[in-house]
Amino acid sequence: MRIEASAAFTSSRPLFPLFIFLFFIPGFHARNLQQCSSSCGDLTNISYPFRLQGDPAGCGDVDFQLSCQNNTAILNFRGGKYYVKGISYDKRTIRVVDVNLAHGTCGLPYKSLSMSEATEDGRFPSLITFWQANFVNCSNTIPELTDSKVPCLNGDTSHVYVNFSNRNLFGYEIPRNCKVISRIPTSSENEMNYPYNETTLKLLATGFDLRWSVECRNCHTFGLSCVYESNNDPRIFQCETILQNPTNGCHCISCFTLSD
Ligand SMILES: *[C@@H]1O[C@H](CO)[C@@H](O)[C@H](O)[C@H]1NC(C)=O
Ligand SMILES: *[C@@H]1O[C@H](CO)[C@@H](O)[C@H](O)[C@H]1NC(C)=O
Ligand SMILES: *[C@@H]1O[C@H](CO)[C@@H](O)[C@H](O)[C@H]1NC(C)=O
Ligand SMILES: *[C@@H]1O[C@H](CO)[C@@H](O)[C@H](O)[C@H]1NC(C)=O
Ligand SMILES: *[C@@H]1O[C@H](CO)[C@@H](O)[C@H](O)[C@H]1NC(C)=O
Repeated sequence: MRIEASAAFTSSRPLFPLFIFLFFIPGFHARNLQQCSSSCGDLTNISYPFRLQGDPAGCGDVDFQLSCQNNTAILNFRGGKYYVKGISYDKRTIRVVDVNLAHGTCGLPYKSLSMSEATEDGRFPSLITFWQANFVNCSNTIPELTDSKVPCLNGDTSHVYVNFSNRNLFGYEIPRNCKVISRIPTSSENEMNYPYNETTLKLLATGFDLRWSVECRNCHTFGLSCVYESNNDPRIFQCETILQNPTNGCHCISCFTLSD
């Protein structure tokens, strides 16, 4: 199975100098990697590619920077703010939760993030679970959805419901006089229509898992898509290989393997 992560190829020429550079400076990466370990609250051993804001230069990678606020690690991602609940360096995943949903209280996410938006970014090319909550705002009550009403968001003339799905809802699936106002990925699938109860709030407070990939980030930096070839963990992402540099024969996978 292959997954695509956007972006069009621009030019492969810039790869040539980079390739030479990485190839002929032995230990270039070894010097920078995995020497630093920071901690913030429960999250100990924050190490490459992650770094904490304020860590010495050369620790981790600035594209994977977290901040530590109120003893909690925060990931700023696509305009949202997420508490980091854990990082797995074996599986190459990060568990995050939207700051507004983290405490299991009724409300909307701080920032709407659909599954497709979550994975457009080369740093985080995939989710583990493809399931999301859709918050739908309606100008009239929808009797079939009574159980999934979000009580704290009801106005005199508006009613908000939560719906779970494995993709963005199609227009025809959204009841008349309703619109989707927010989305957020979730950590587990549930085919049933969840009522909006404590169990749902707990599910939302669990957050969701993103896969992180330095290789895929590198591909994006060079305007290449990234793909994975097998479902093994950790999932290994590589640049799309259909494009080769005709002048030096440099194959993008071999280039980026050097920079890992
Ligand atoms: C921290 O995590 C890194 C990456 O997994 C690992 O190599 C290192 O041994 C860990 N250090 C400690 C003190 O746990
Ligand atoms: C940190 O705590 C302060 C005071 O309690 C609060 O206003 C702020 O929103 C918190 N920041 C985060 C990121 O949770
Ligand atoms: C739902 O839509 C109504 C009408 O546009 C708006 O007044 C209300 O603020 C919306 N509710 C939320 C939670 O966004
Ligand atoms: C969410 O809404 C879609 C479209 O109305 C519906 O097909 C689906 O069953 C709903 N999801 C759940 C979990 O109820
Ligand atoms: C929430 O609803 C689900 C589905 O009906 C149910 O299995 C679960 O026990 C409920 N949770 C609570 C805390 O009532």
